[in-house]
Amino acid sequence: MSASIASVSKPLPRVGINALKHIPGEAGPPVVGTTMAQLKDHIGFSRAMHERHGAVFWSNSFGHPAVTLVGADANELVMMDKDKIFSSELGWEPMMGHVFKNGLMLMDFDDHRKHRRALGVAFKSNAMKSYLDQLNQGTKSALATWPHEISFYAQIKQLTLDLAATSFLGISLGQEAQEINKAFIDMVAAITAVIRAPLPGTVMARGLKGRRRMEQFFLAEIPKRRGATGDDMLTLICNEASVDGEPLRDDEIVSHMIFLMMAAHDTTTSSITAMIEQLIDHPDWQERLRQEALSLDAPEDGLRHDDLAKLDLHEYVFKEAMRLHAPIPTILRRAVEPFHFGGFDIPAGTIVVINPSYTHLMEDYWEAPLDFDPMRFSPENVAARHKFAWFPFSGGAHMCLGLHFAYMQMKVFFVSLVARLSDRKDYSKFKGLADITDPETKRWPPNINAPARTRIAKSATTPVCP
Ligand code: HEM
Repeated sequence: MSASIASVSKPLPRVGINALKHIPGEAGPPVVGTTMAQLKDHIGFSRAMHERHGAVFWSNSFGHPAVTLVGADANELVMMDKDKIFSSELGWEPMMGHVFKNGLMLMDFDDHRKHRRALGVAFKSNAMKSYLDQLNQGTKSALATWPHEISFYAQIKQLTLDLAATSFLGISLGQEAQEINKAFIDMVAAITAVIRAPLPGTVMARGLKGRRRMEQFFLAEIPKRRGATGDDMLTLICNEASVDGEPLRDDEIVSHMIFLMMAAHDTTTSSITAMIEQLIDHPDWQERLRQEALSLDAPEDGLRHDDLAKLDLHEYVFKEAMRLHAPIPTILRRAVEPFHFGGFDIPAGTIVVINPSYTHLMEDYWEAPLDFDPMRFSPENVAARHKFAWFPFSGGAHMCLGLHFAYMQMKVFFVSLVARLSDRKDYSKFKGLADITDPETKRWPPNINAPARTRIAKSATTPVCP
């Protein structure tokens, strides 16, 4: 049962609730369906549905009936997709197709493989070394300007955008920064817009306007980069990325760059915020990370490429923070062929949901799942666990292309932070990495869903250090 790109382009049946009647599930209230319950408390919703209906259930979100498959085996089946029956493009299209069309995650099978290979030029070792320099410089100079009392989320979001500008685009955004930032916020907000049509004044209309602004920005940049030299992602992609021996077209580069910037910006912002939240609550781990950072040679000069492999504890904490708060809580696919799972026949055309954030908290895989315990990620503990019990970066063909970049950015940030704090000599005076709510939405963090157990409000004066 192998599907090629051709079988994806054949019309798939629209799967209504009637076609899923043999599967347990709930439609939710008229019009909004289960959307609001999911947006309000995604993990609570998944847990309640799992308890009521079992490991395969349907719900009705964002105007589409969808079947959720629960558990690590389901995650493996869908991620590894041995029979090529799960389309990422058609799964994400209803949520992201408007504003992130033709991004890598919205491609499938042969087409996807070729474009993924083309974009690989931007993630080769030399390119990564050059991004490391940019991250070191940019993080150090930004941290030097951070005041004692800050809104952490707003600051880190600005920083990841500024760093994306230098590493991805090879420029400082300068006066355009605010406009570009707004375009991104609007585009990301459109992913979960309840009203999906771009009616005037709606979140979706603002998202599409943001997309047009970004297209305009990249279309002006691309001609300057063709034939130029540079280590930034855009220049590398303009000059070295090819599909079937042909350079990528301008419109392809625009879509890839918009997607890459979105994929990098929001996820690193929320994962570093999640890590800070845990460190505020666990001063013992703050101290362990501090010691690990200080054990590097001259951390105040920035992280060297060799240092990246010496920060195991930083990785454990990062992974544990993403377990407790997966930056991408659910992953969507659409079945292009019928399949069987958990005792149910699931028809071709069905939207299939799998769920990192809920799997990450299931007692089947995690002892005391709400407790913060980074040692869960020591090599022995990882080896003893199902490999799809933790998958914040997805897996298989669509596994995050930027995951090494994300680890690198996290390490640069925390080592630079330690260097910055050490300059102050007295940790207890450094306050303020504490207000981690998004000033615009007042939610933490402002991605698709906040786990119910997350404390939203934090005092603006909670010290980050013991
Ligand atoms: C903590 C940070 C990050 C997390 C948790 C994360 C998570 C993910 C996940 C879950 C997917 C796949 C979704 C699916 O299978 O449908 C994905 C795909 C992707 N990510 Fe990331 N990401 C992160 C950072 C980044 C960064 C920094 C970049 C770029 C530098 C990036 C670029 C991409 C790209 C291009 C894809 C599409 C891959 C494909 O479809 O082949 N991500 N990411």
